[in-house]
Amino acid sequence: MDFFEWLNGYEPRFGLHEVDFNDPNRPRTPRRSAVYYAEIIRNNGIPLPKEDEFLYGEFPKNFCWSVATAAYQIEGAWRADGKGLSIWDKYTHTPLKISNDDNGDVACDSYHKIEEDVEMLKRLKVSHYRFSISWSRVLPDGTTRYVNEMGLNYYERLIDALLAANITPQVTLYHWDLPQALQDVGGWENDTIVQRFKEYAELLFQRLGDKVKFWITLNEPYNTAYLGYGFGTAAPGISVRPGRAPYVVGHNLIKAHAEAWHLYNETYRAKQGGLISITINSDWAEPRNPHKQEDFDAARQYLQFLIGWFAHPIFKNGDYNEVMKTRIRERSLAQGLSSSRLPEFTESEKQRIKGTYDYFGLNHYTTVLTYKYEYSTGILSYDADRGVASVTDRSWLNSGSFWLKVTPFGFRKLLRWIKEEYNNPPIYVTENGISERGAIDFNDTWRIHYHRNYINEALKAVLLDGVDLRGYAAWTLMDNFEWAVGFDERFGFYHVNYTDPTLPRLPKASASYYSQIISCNGFPDPAMGPHPCLETELEGNHVLTISYCFLMNSDTRHHTRTGWQRALSGIRFNITQCRNSTVCAFCSFWNWSTGPGTYFI
Ligand code: NOJ
Repeated sequence: MDFFEWLNGYEPRFGLHEVDFNDPNRPRTPRRSAVYYAEIIRNNGIPLPKEDEFLYGEFPKNFCWSVATAAYQIEGAWRADGKGLSIWDKYTHTPLKISNDDNGDVACDSYHKIEEDVEMLKRLKVSHYRFSISWSRVLPDGTTRYVNEMGLNYYERLIDALLAANITPQVTLYHWDLPQALQDVGGWENDTIVQRFKEYAELLFQRLGDKVKFWITLNEPYNTAYLGYGFGTAAPGISVRPGRAPYVVGHNLIKAHAEAWHLYNETYRAKQGGLISITINSDWAEPRNPHKQEDFDAARQYLQFLIGWFAHPIFKNGDYNEVMKTRIRERSLAQGLSSSRLPEFTESEKQRIKGTYDYFGLNHYTTVLTYKYEYSTGILSYDADRGVASVTDRSWLNSGSFWLKVTPFGFRKLLRWIKEEYNNPPIYVTENGISERGAIDFNDTWRIHYHRNYINEALKAVLLDGVDLRGYAAWTLMDNFEWAVGFDERFGFYHVNYTDPTLPRLPKASASYYSQIISCNGFPDPAMGPHPCLETELEGNHVLTISYCFLMNSDTRHHTRTGWQRALSGIRFNITQCRNSTVCAFCSFWNWSTGPGTYFI
């Protein structure tokens, strides 16, 4: 336990048990480490817990394997063909908001690269592709007063290319890029947004609904409400009303979702026959100290303030959960206000919101350890209302993002929690993935490890816990614009070389691995002998990177050939001839993504 540490007094704490030196009774509380050490003693070592054992097996037939992107993160073409500005265009062009002042003006230029993007998807062998529509590309001022046909045409062509490749589109209507014109009249804080969103949704149902059978109304409403209008680290970057704006925004987001769902349900479902729902993000929350009731309560509070904020009204009873209602009301009253800062739904609104889902769309990445943290009464903010702080375990593996620790076990727990809390809805995971930073390494073993273990936990949720999981989308197809951190953090299966104006996409090792999981529909048991699905290799997964600079002409050709051969040694290449017999200059950094075969250089 903590004790008197000689010259340093009571400051450094070495104890497996915390001692409260302010309390005359000196109460001792076991720390996580105490529990952990007790387990080591009990087990006489560190055996792999049963639930951490790898599970071999397959996902249900017709499981949807997908990969996800979002318009602002990949499309570029920010002013092309009549596109209107979005709040992200404005935000990224505001100095100091984004790492390196990066922006999505060009990003991966997907607006001009349908063919290349679909080619990557084909190679991954995904059955589905999740992408979002840029509202202001289709409706430049956010309203249906004027439809930008050129913008809409991009999505028509993309959808046609996907269908031709037998890939089912999963279309998100709103992935954070609100038309700036709507922000100018208050954005999500102005309740007229509900009607604007419904009109936008209707246009897309009308124009794309004969081909799109999977709709997601909103992506991560929590981020729009909290990061956009509370914390201010996402567009529109509002942080001056942190105790009110996020709740007002959340209120309108829920209503907008419900209206779009009803519209589809009543007017389009019968003839178009698709699914429509919402994607909600959540971490899993564990009590920091599993032996402290208070930390348990903190975990529950954390989840109800995060996933429950949106899921409770939609998937349960049309209203906010009791945890949020009680805490926000009590704090508001203590602050001298006459009513809660959390708006209330009317009875008819509750009826309208309740049950507006066809499936549960889930974005999940990581786990946190929670404990209670009471903010002083005077602080008006979502964080203070929640009254919970979080840390992570130092033994958890890191990623390229400070908030993302590798914690596969939390994925299964969250899936099971959703099943229990929301009455066993069909679930589609619409995002899950890991980032990296720094120099590119195509051998991204960390991503392979992440997907292998997270997908395996999902498999356990299905096979052992009876979770009705229908699909999994990995985030993300290719490196792209990661919001406030710009291009610094990369989540892609394909690397995008931004220094080359043609923005070539090259597969990382994880692309092959993910495509293998897809071919196997899970993890075949090695005890059953070699499985053919394990032999499939990602086409085009032979990446050759050469940094050479030389001039080739007839005199030097034989030297050059030797050079090439040396550079290519060990790689499945066969150089048969130099195609250009006069002079060709090769400079700097060359990347090729190729299949096995004969190449002419
Ligand atoms: C959630 C968001 O939907 C997506 O846009 C983002 O890139 C990933 N998480 C990773 O942070």
